[in-house]
Amino acid sequence: MSIQFQRMSIQLKDINCFYGAHQALFDISLECPAGETLVLLGPSGAGKSSLLRVLNLLEMPRSGKLHIAGNQFDFQQPPGEKAIRDLRQNVGMVFQQYHLWPHLTVLQNLIEAPCRVLGLNRAQAVERADNLLTRLRLNDFADRFPLHLSGGQQQRVAIARALMMEPQVLLFDEPTAALDPEITAQIVNIINELASTGITQVIVTHEVEVARKTASRVVYMENGRIIEQGSALHFTQPETAEFANYLSH
Ligand SMILES: Nc1ncnc2c1ncn2[C@@H]1O[C@H](COP(=O)(O)OP(=O)(O)O)[C@@H](O)[C@H]1O
Ligand SMILES: [Mg+2]
Repeated sequence: MSIQFQRMSIQLKDINCFYGAHQALFDISLECPAGETLVLLGPSGAGKSSLLRVLNLLEMPRSGKLHIAGNQFDFQQPPGEKAIRDLRQNVGMVFQQYHLWPHLTVLQNLIEAPCRVLGLNRAQAVERADNLLTRLRLNDFADRFPLHLSGGQQQRVAIARALMMEPQVLLFDEPTAALDPEITAQIVNIINELASTGITQVIVTHEVEVARKTASRVVYMENGRIIEQGSALHFTQPETAEFANYLSH
């Protein structure tokens, strides 16, 4: 294995993905080195969420290759259950609608998967949870139920819950979509703090400002295709008319 290969946290080669007869992703190839914050940007329907969901195999591509966090898949053969479970231990997801368990408190939401999946005992899991609740300024909410929290607080709980698994890669689908500007700024700060820890992040957004403030790399998509990708310099020096046009709105 070359050094170059190891330092790539995510590589996709010629990924094609369908919903029934409808093709949502066309020949998607991209690379993201470890530790980067990659933003998938584009208008509604571009295929951003589909691409994000491919990264932890919530959508199964019809063809192509995926390498992520040390896991490799060639979709000529359908991946096995164990390979999918291994992938998801290293690749966490923060869903647009948070998907917290409503019948569990914040603390219980955090410790459930690490106890069940990673085999941590309760004391170990609670200690890990306490650290994350402090980091995300959620200490006061450990014993509350999710529906008794604001949208921004629920989003922070969802991020803490994903971080409990200590993933190498963290995926976010429209993390600021339902939030007002002040709370959006908080989430942007959290993403930037996480970036300094060396984790690799992939963030789907249609908001140019959120993209500019978080991305170290950007992929611009339209109609299931990548139009342009590269470093954050592309925000100031777009190469395609499509991306330049999107940035100007
Ligand atoms: N579960 C689904 N079933 C059928 N079509 C879907 C499904 N999810 C997304 N699509 C279609 O795939 C395309 C890409 O959608 P999506 O990945 O959600 O785009 P984005 O996140 O950029 O808005 C759209 O045409 C959308 O209608
Ligand atoms: Mg979407």
